[in-house]
Amino acid sequence: MKQEIHFVTGKGGVGKSILAAALALKLSQEGKKTLLVELGDQSFFKDFFSVPQVGFQPTSIRPNLSLALWTGEACLQEYARHFIKVESLAKLFFENAVMRAFINVAPALPELAILGKVTSGPRKHGPPLPFDCVVVDAFATGHFIALLEAPKGMAEAVQFGPMGEQSRSIDAHLRNPEICKYHVVTLPEELPLKEADELISRLKAEFSIAPELILNKMMETSVSEGELQAVQNEGGDLAKFAEYLESHIQRQKQMWSAAEKMGVHLTRVPLYFENQPWVLVEKVAGNLR
Ligand SMILES: Nc1ncnc2c1ncn2[C@@H]1O[C@H](COP(=O)(O)OP(=O)(O)OP(=O)(O)O)[C@@H](O)[C@H]1O
Ligand SMILES: [Mg+2]
Repeated sequence: MKQEIHFVTGKGGVGKSILAAALALKLSQEGKKTLLVELGDQSFFKDFFSVPQVGFQPTSIRPNLSLALWTGEACLQEYARHFIKVESLAKLFFENAVMRAFINVAPALPELAILGKVTSGPRKHGPPLPFDCVVVDAFATGHFIALLEAPKGMAEAVQFGPMGEQSRSIDAHLRNPEICKYHVVTLPEELPLKEADELISRLKAEFSIAPELILNKMMETSVSEGELQAVQNEGGDLAKFAEYLESHIQRQKQMWSAAEKMGVHLTRVPLYFENQPWVLVEKVAGNLR
């Protein structure tokens, strides 16, 4: 079976981590061995799911589901150790001319190392990553674009040798819809939706990627418009709340219509009033295709 890679991104705070966890849970429940990856040096899931230890090496957290936390530096170090097993050779490698050119474009290096690791399964390159699915709780919008641009930038800076070759290979895999799937999360609100729209346009224009758009925290009620109106007529605090709810639902409808015009697959996820982390994630997962 070919490994599938999922990237979850969106504006800060919109629910990327919850959606990434929900997607990973869903895939694991379908019987796929799944790795949920967090990027950076701080784990959100460690506290959220009360996992005792989260690090570079995957930790099993549920049947078929493991969790890992990757920094660019850790990915790069693991890669170097895998290929250059002799210390003196490693030293030589890091001091050669290609490496110097490489250091000149170093800002993209952690990003490249992360994407090299993320795509290492289908590229059959580097230390083994024995999972059917990898779900990346990725960076927020701007940093995510910088992440995706890193391999192309590196391929242009270092055209020859293994560095150029690997960068081109990573870039090609990121653009392959059979391998990499993209999920943009937004709230049904003006600013996050605008940011999602801009991100989707760039993903389409620069990478020919058609992501899924997830509208998270959609407020749902079985109370009819007539009933809401009746409560409003009664006055008091409850009337104010009914008024708020009505206008919020109205705005949500407008946001949904605007999202429909973006020409991507739309998924709706309700706002749940749920304090238990796994129960919340399970409920959110129930909305995913
Ligand atoms: N559909 C939902 N229903 C109820 N609560 C939700 C839902 N989605 C997310 N949340 C809650 O909203 C908060 C923010 O979600 P989350 O941490 O996933 O956002 P994020 O985009 O990953 O944030 P950051 O940019 O800080 O990484 C969390 O407390 C989460 O439990
Ligand atoms: Mg998060």
